[in-house]
Amino acid sequence: MATQLEANKEYYYCTCGKSEDGIFCNGSHKGTEFIPKVFTVSETKKYNICACKKTSNAPFCDGSHSK
Ligand code: FES
Repeated sequence: MATQLEANKEYYYCTCGKSEDGIFCNGSHKGTEFIPKVFTVSETKKYNICACKKTSNAPFCDGSHSK
């Protein structure tokens, strides 16, 4: 999902699949074994963030959703 991200800002990528937008942690992982993945980017621009959770390069889309 194309998502605008700011350089050097900390983001919390949802790894459990329960957050409303499927991308950013909103605390819904509580009670599961999942924890969010903290990440930053070096450039302010749009990034393709994985929402299907099949990527091997989290939090970025690697095309696995279409395989
Ligand atoms: S809501 Fe999914 S990791 Fe926090």
